[in-house]
Amino acid sequence: MEYVKSKIRDIIDFPKPGIIFRDLTTMLKDAKAMHMVADGLASLYRDKGITKVVGIESRGFIGGSILAYEIGAGFVPARKPGKLPADTISASFEKEYGFDTIELHADAITPDDIVVIHDDLLATGGTMNAAYELVKTMNPKKIYINFIVELSALNGRDVLPKEAEVTSLIVY
Ligand code: PRP
Ligand code: HPA
Repeated sequence: MEYVKSKIRDIIDFPKPGIIFRDLTTMLKDAKAMHMVADGLASLYRDKGITKVVGIESRGFIGGSILAYEIGAGFVPARKPGKLPADTISASFEKEYGFDTIELHADAITPDDIVVIHDDLLATGGTMNAAYELVKTMNPKKIYINFIVELSALNGRDVLPKEAEVTSLIVY
């Protein structure tokens, strides 16, 4: 994954002073890096019986869709408030640079499902923790958690549920 990491660009003081923003768009536009990300995600989850990949809006939709396609699972969007048209459940949370809310369709996941929740990046863990709590209310058989990038200095893993298996392709 060193090649993929080399394609991620650092932007200083974005979106606020003091934050080093790891910009994944430079990785996304590199065909070889994306191929390696797709292979890396698929090899982590191919043999786990995953039936649904939950992708977190918006950047989690990219890798989440690729992963779902690669392993033959369905895709479920976790969206920002007011975007999903049917009945929803929602959770509010704090993240690295502000507050937010995410929603899932109330019928998105069933107790037969084995789920992996995917996002592009783990910072404080607030976003993923909220997504996990929402998915958990639907009682799937198992919930995995996955990121492309983990910012370990922010200790996001510490707020994630101890029972979840957490993977990331690249750690800073
Ligand atoms: C970013 C990133 C994760 C989240 C990580 O998304 O894609 O979802 O922040 O931060 P956390 O671990 O501190 O919660 P953002 O909310 O900026 O939305 P976007 O994907 O629409 O750009
Ligand atoms: N890069 C991308 N997304 C983020 C970051 C970052 O450094 N921090 C929180 N969300």
